Amino acid sequence: MASERISVVVTRRLPDVVEKRMSELFDVTLRSDDTPMSRAELSAAMKTADVLVPTLSDAIDSALIAQAGTQLRLIANYGAGVDHIDVATARQRGILVSNTPGVLTDDTADMTMALVLAVTRRIPEGLAQMQSGEWSGWSPTALLGGRVGGRRLGILGMGRIGQAVARRAAAFGMEIHYHNRKRLRVETETDLGATYWESLDQMVARMDVLSINCPHTPSTFHLMNARRMKLMKQDAVIVNTSRGEVIDENAMVRMLKAGDLAGAGLDVYEHGTDINPDLRAMKNVVLLPHMGSATVEGRVEMGEKVIINIKTFDDGHRPPDQVVPSML
Ligand code: DGY
Repeated sequence: MASERISVVVTRRLPDVVEKRMSELFDVTLRSDDTPMSRAELSAAMKTADVLVPTLSDAIDSALIAQAGTQLRLIANYGAGVDHIDVATARQRGILVSNTPGVLTDDTADMTMALVLAVTRRIPEGLAQMQSGEWSGWSPTALLGGRVGGRRLGILGMGRIGQAVARRAAAFGMEIHYHNRKRLRVETETDLGATYWESLDQMVARMDVLSINCPHTPSTFHLMNARRMKLMKQDAVIVNTSRGEVIDENAMVRMLKAGDLAGAGLDVYEHGTDINPDLRAMKNVVLLPHMGSATVEGRVEMGEKVIINIKTFDDGHRPPDQVVPSML
């Protein structure tokens, strides 16, 4: 007898509790190992499933969408960023796209602050000394970093995550500045104690720390290009927990090597796992493996959002977290 439940294909392993709940609700095909699907596997899934649940490691481009079966009605992304999905083409084909905003805000903002502190206070260098057994005791001049309190933090992208970073950084005594496509309401600015800069060029030229918190879209690609990074102060630090494509990574590496930037804290990279080898070798650069949202709570809540989006859609309504091209 044919299943009456909506058929869902999930492209990666998800937390057990999420997979269990999906199995109870949907006719779900789960991934048996934690490797990304090949293009052929993705294509096959899109030919048979009613709903695809991809993650940021799946490039759902126009060619794949063009080959999708007519039964595919929803791409319920497990994650907030949708730059790996051609949302406009999906829309033309009548396929809805949803994401999981809000539930990874605090975790990502925490990680942003962790990177700010790691770079400015040289935490990895201290850790390396302890792990190698080389520490010979306290010294008045060893591993001196910079005090974060009083520094100017420029936030590029003042959405949910940018604002959560602002609150944390203010608690550390940083001065908050921001640039955003749209200026915030005055009350929100006042609440955050944030100064708006209409000109990104003017803002970056005056900041001690620049935090990238905008999504990757065609208009934010290489927003931090070589020209703009050259406006930054020599003792400034860049932190990126959003998407690598917002920064011209090679230009940043050249500046770090030349001493034209003091350091970088990166959770994301322009070419995914293909990281510029020079970055790995620099002591003033802290690299993390895209783990900004990696908390048990966050990943389960992302799964819950996916489930709600599918369930609402299956009940004949718009998924609450639908993404439309005009939002990008
Ligand atoms: C997202 O959901 O887009 C995040 O980058 C995952 O950490």
